[in-house]
Amino acid sequence: MVSDAVRASDSGQTVRVCLGPRSYEVRVVTNDPGGFGPFARASLDRTWSGRPCRRALLVTDEHVASLAQPYMWALERVGIAASLAVVMPGEASKSLEHASDLYDRLVAMRADRHTAMVALGGGVVGDLAGFVAATYARGLPLLMIPTSLLAQVDSSVGGKVGVNHPRAKNMIGAFHQPLGVWIDTATLSSLPPRELRAGSAEVIKYGMSLDAPLFHFLEFQVQAVLALEPDAVRHVVAKSCELKAAIVGGDEREETGLRSVLNFGHTVGHAIEAVAGYGGTYLHGEAVAIGMVAVCRLAERVGTLDRAATERLLCLVRRAGLPVACPGLDADALLDAMTRDKKNQAGRIRFVLPHGIGKVEMSDACSIEQIREVLAAITND
Ligand code: GLY
Repeated sequence: MVSDAVRASDSGQTVRVCLGPRSYEVRVVTNDPGGFGPFARASLDRTWSGRPCRRALLVTDEHVASLAQPYMWALERVGIAASLAVVMPGEASKSLEHASDLYDRLVAMRADRHTAMVALGGGVVGDLAGFVAATYARGLPLLMIPTSLLAQVDSSVGGKVGVNHPRAKNMIGAFHQPLGVWIDTATLSSLPPRELRAGSAEVIKYGMSLDAPLFHFLEFQVQAVLALEPDAVRHVVAKSCELKAAIVGGDEREETGLRSVLNFGHTVGHAIEAVAGYGGTYLHGEAVAIGMVAVCRLAERVGTLDRAATERLLCLVRRAGLPVACPGLDADALLDAMTRDKKNQAGRIRFVLPHGIGKVEMSDACSIEQIREVLAAITND
C-alpha cells in the first residue's frame, strides 16, 4: 500500500517533492502538533534563508485560529518566536488588500528574509500567506500546515500561490514552493461534513485519473476516510500528495502541459462554479464530482471509456455523498463558460479524458454535439 516515494514510520508518512534545490518534504501525521517544531527547524535548516530563522508570522483564519497555539509553542521550543495574524475566513480574504495588511504586520515586526511565514488553514490562507511570502522582501521561507482535506491533498503542494483580482480569480500570483508541508489529519475533525465530502472529490480525482489502486482502495474505504479513521485518511492523503508531487516534479511551472492532468473533472467543474456563482451553491469539490461524471460520459461517447468504468465512478461519487448532476443549471451557459477555458486551443474545448480507471489523456476530440448531449444529461437529471 505504501510505495517507494512514501516513507512510513510509526509517527506518520513522508512524501518527497523533488524539485532540485527547491525540493521539500510533506509529512502526514495524526494528532502531533508538537512534531511540527522539529520538522519546521529541519526544513528551515536546509536553506540559506531558513537557517538563521528565529521569528515567524503564523497566518490563520477565524475558523481554525483555535488550533494555532500548539503550533506556536512547537515553534518556540525550537527557538522561533511566532506572531499570529488572523484573517477572515472565505475567498474575500484572497485579495491585495489583505495581502497589504500582512505586509504591514511584517514591516511592523521588522521581518527580513530569515523570517518564516507559516500558513495554518485551508486553501485561502495558504494562497494568501504564500503570496505574501513570495513577494515580501523578494521571498520569505514558507511552511504550510493545511487543515482542510482539499488543501491537504491539493493546494498546499505545488508552489502556486496568489490572490484574486476583483474580476479574475487567482490572477495575481507567483510560484513559491514551501520549505515543508506539515499535514495533521486530526485537523480534519474541525471541518463541516459537507466540506470533508467535497475534499474527497479531489482524492477520487487522483484515483480515477492517475492511480487505479487508490481508486480501488476508495471503493472499499471511502466511508472509513469520511469517518476520519486515521490509517485510511493518512493513506489517501499521503498517496494523493505523492501523485501530485510526481506531476509537479515534472512540470513545476506549468510549462510542459503535464500539470493539466490535475484538471481532470475541472473543465465542467469550473463552468458549474462560474454559472451557479461562487456563493456556495456548489462547493469546488462538488462541482468537480459532477465534472468527473460528465467527462466520463463524454469519454464513453468518444470511445475511450467503457460504461462499466463510468458506473464505478458514479457509485463511488454517490457513496462519498457527492452530487452527480446539477439539475436546473443552464446547459448553454455551461458550454459558454467552457469555451473560455484557458486549456482550449484553436477554438476546440480540451478535456482531460479518461482512458480507463487510473489513466487520462488530454484531448480535443469531443464534438460540440457530444458536449451538448452530456451537458443536457447532467442538467436535466
Ligand atoms: N498550490 C497549488 C499548486 O501549486 O498546484
